[in-house]
Amino acid sequence: MSNDTGSIVLLEGIHPAAEEMLAKTGLPLKRIEGAVDHDRLPEVLEGASILGIRSRTQLDETIIQRAENLVAIGCFCIGTNQVDLEAAARRGVAVFNAPFSNTRSVAELTIAEIIMLMRRIPQRSSDMHVGRWQKSVVGSREVRGRTLGIVGYGHIGSQLSILAEGLGMRVVYHDIIEKLPLGNAIARDDLHALLSESDVVSLHVPATAMTAGMMGAAELEAMKDGAFLVNNARGNVVDIDALAKAVESGKLGGAAVDVFPEEPRSGTSEFQSPLRGLENVLLTPHIGGSTREAQSAIAREVGTKLARYLKEGATGTAVNLPAVDLPPRQENQQRILHFHHNVPGVLSRMHTALAGLGVNINAEYLQSQGELSYVILDVDPIDPETIHQELKRIPETIRFRTISD
Ligand code: NAI
Repeated sequence: MSNDTGSIVLLEGIHPAAEEMLAKTGLPLKRIEGAVDHDRLPEVLEGASILGIRSRTQLDETIIQRAENLVAIGCFCIGTNQVDLEAAARRGVAVFNAPFSNTRSVAELTIAEIIMLMRRIPQRSSDMHVGRWQKSVVGSREVRGRTLGIVGYGHIGSQLSILAEGLGMRVVYHDIIEKLPLGNAIARDDLHALLSESDVVSLHVPATAMTAGMMGAAELEAMKDGAFLVNNARGNVVDIDALAKAVESGKLGGAAVDVFPEEPRSGTSEFQSPLRGLENVLLTPHIGGSTREAQSAIAREVGTKLARYLKEGATGTAVNLPAVDLPPRQENQQRILHFHHNVPGVLSRMHTALAGLGVNINAEYLQSQGELSYVILDVDPIDPETIHQELKRIPETIRFRTISD
């Protein structure tokens, strides 16, 4: 089967920059502004070889199975929880996302929040909205010279580190793996050591079993009196009840929170949280990475990955498939992209089949992951239909396609 045919379907109003990247595939493109009801998805996906979604489209096994022509799914967002990744892998459907396109947006918001909290702006602003003119210097500090403790020194944490030092902050960080300190930042092996010296603690860890509830009552208690907490990472990292108590009691000077253990599924449901109404607490609806720049960067990143996969077969950046990257196909070479069950003897059967056709193999790269193997072969050109007939006979074949001039 060759999948260089079919169409591209983009749902959920994906940023137009994606179209520019996908134009390279030469496939017709259909754009739908909103999400499509689950029941209607099979109809919309008929004939589609590439599907672009954001976070609202749930792609379960049934949908993936029914979309027979589907070669790749692009999640134009960070997470991929909305897709049954294993079901996609079992059918050799690649899934791509954009893990780092909104790094800068989160770092910028965090900097803004640190300044706002240290000047007690949330409270000052809500006072003004109800007509109270509370001109006071009490509790108001510059960020210059204050210590920022960054927990999780990955893409966002390290970017924040640089911006904070630019403002004259002293930066300490804690990570479970050794990270190169940027600028003058100092690593702290012990989380509690970081908590006890920081004027503001900012969390940038992923949601894992280890980070679930990592900021509980004991950790909040270990923070400096009057310090601030920022959580723009994941909702379950902080014990929200304990945080509410720490702010109410005056142990903490305030907090900025963008992510919550339970978030409303839509704008019509009420946001419930013990943090509502607390003094000097900035609440935002999971918008840390939501900027126009990030949306455009996401569209470019995922669009490029999809186009490259279609034209070259590269899975190095896919989240669910064995990582196989070969340099771009040379002119006058035909590329065979073959997914098969990871059992002995498949490659030798492919070699025998190709040798039987008198086809020379010029490049080959194989990678396996669990029960799935993916091999890319660059061979001398031959009628694609003849190769298809041969490869179909190999019983372990899951799917394949060929790319030629
Ligand atoms: P990343 O993977 O680049 O960095 C995470 C860092 O945390 C890594 O260096 C890792 O070693 C470290 N880490 C993991 N477990 C740890 C632990 N128990 N203690 C200390 N360090 C630990 O991730 P990135 O891109 O920096 O994102 C960080 C978080 O921000 C993620 O949870 C992500 O979901 C969230 N995020 C939130 C957004 C929003 O809209 N609020 C937007 C984008 C990301």
